[in-house]
Amino acid sequence: MLELGCGNGFEAEALAERFPGWRLTATDFDRGMVAATAGRLARFGERVRVERADATALPYEDGSFDLAFAVFVWHHVGIWREATFEARRVLREGGSLVLADVRHPLAHEPDRGILAGTYGLEALRRAIADAGFRRMRLGTGAGPWYRLVAQA
Ligand SMILES: C[S@@+](CC[C@H](N)C(=O)[O-])C[C@H]1O[C@@H](n2cnc3c(N)ncnc32)[C@H](O)[C@@H]1O
Repeated sequence: MLELGCGNGFEAEALAERFPGWRLTATDFDRGMVAATAGRLARFGERVRVERADATALPYEDGSFDLAFAVFVWHHVGIWREATFEARRVLREGGSLVLADVRHPLAHEPDRGILAGTYGLEALRRAIADAGFRRMRLGTGAGPWYRLVAQA
């Protein structure tokens, strides 16, 4: 599985512990984050790789992963639509993309506040479909968050 925007590596660490049979590639664009995560995950040996990668231009072949996920990353990416297409490209047929992110109620006025990179759920649905995902489940709660599972 592939993590995009792993930050300090907390999620990758939890998953590596919970699923000892999984091989995991944790990636981030920021060199400092990559170094921090590499240190945190070193104890898992070869089944966990940590690499620098831009979610909008991934250095992986088509269909390389069963699962890709990004938590609170897409609104930082800027061109998150391209990242959605890239995630689909590197997933095998039937693989899954899992996203959790913030969506701002003022996403149609993106100049306001620190959540400037956020986007609306309709735009997200459209990007998921345009990228070629066949099914998606989108969940929202009371706050400005969503979680999504999409199947390639
Ligand atoms: C809010 S942090 C989330 C980190 C982690 N997923 C978590 O939940 O703790 C966003 C991360 O996305 C990374 N990021 C931003 N743009 C990126 C890009 N184009 N490709 C890969 N990572 C990116 C940042 O470096 C940062 O580590």
